[in-house]
Amino acid sequence: MQLIDGKKIAEQIKTEIAEEVQQMVANGQRPPHLAVIIVGHDGGSEAYVANKVKSCAQVGFKSTHIALEEDVTEEELLQEIARLNADPELDGLIVQLPLPKHIDEQKIIESIDYRKDVDGFHPSNVGRMTIGLPCFVSATPSGIIELLRRYEIPTKGKNCVIIGRSNIVGKPIATLMMLKGYPGDATVTVCHSHTQNLAEITRQADIIIAAIGSPEFVKEDMVKEGAVIIDVGTTRIPSTETKSGYRLCGDVDFKNVAPKCSYITPVPGGVGPMTIISLLRNTLQAARNRK
Ligand code: GUN
Repeated sequence: MQLIDGKKIAEQIKTEIAEEVQQMVANGQRPPHLAVIIVGHDGGSEAYVANKVKSCAQVGFKSTHIALEEDVTEEELLQEIARLNADPELDGLIVQLPLPKHIDEQKIIESIDYRKDVDGFHPSNVGRMTIGLPCFVSATPSGIIELLRRYEIPTKGKNCVIIGRSNIVGKPIATLMMLKGYPGDATVTVCHSHTQNLAEITRQADIIIAAIGSPEFVKEDMVKEGAVIIDVGTTRIPSTETKSGYRLCGDVDFKNVAPKCSYITPVPGGVGPMTIISLLRNTLQAARNRK
């Protein structure tokens, strides 16, 4: 069994990105520039955004952090996005989700210029991904693909079973795994809450991608010998053993499943660290796309 070390790969990619940025700047170009809009004061969202801003600095990107009050109107937020869409000094633009109830999230996502949508949430990017066109892929599926690539895990013709059909993980990773090329060319099955005989299906899988948000859902008897397991779960479980008062729990019963696997991602330290890397890679790509 080999552990897929997302933390290590994420550090490697950060170094690669930083080197490319240094080269851009040495060639007289400005560094990539990401703007992050946050609305309100949700503690979790503020921490995520702070981490994104910090990661930008680590690789030499410029970042602009725009904090709007909880009571900002949808119209005001749309105006701010329009201003940033038109700013030629800006490559990437993200609006941290969730948004307060009085703002229509989908309307906000669709108001971002898809060429700056480094979150990959705009329907233009989702549609372009589906037909294999250049686009921005959202953070988690893109991170999973990069892990498969870096560990040179074979995917062609493999049975890939995805547990979960969310718009942000299940559906896009299903699309990516069946696209032509590597990593891809897999035979994909998507399971969800209405799937019958789920264990029978997962036992056929060469690759299982668990993204249901149900702690330790995937048990030993659901996995065939030698399978590759990608665990996307990050449920917070109260714990007296950590400073934060909680620990992260994956969708896979790691202790009992890991001995059967050829490769497995741990939680934490597997897919998680790769998500911020995807945002950085997309922002770098947006900067490369500049005219
Ligand atoms: N909230 C949780 N994850 C994300 C993400 O990847 N992007 C944005 N914009 N908001 C989020």
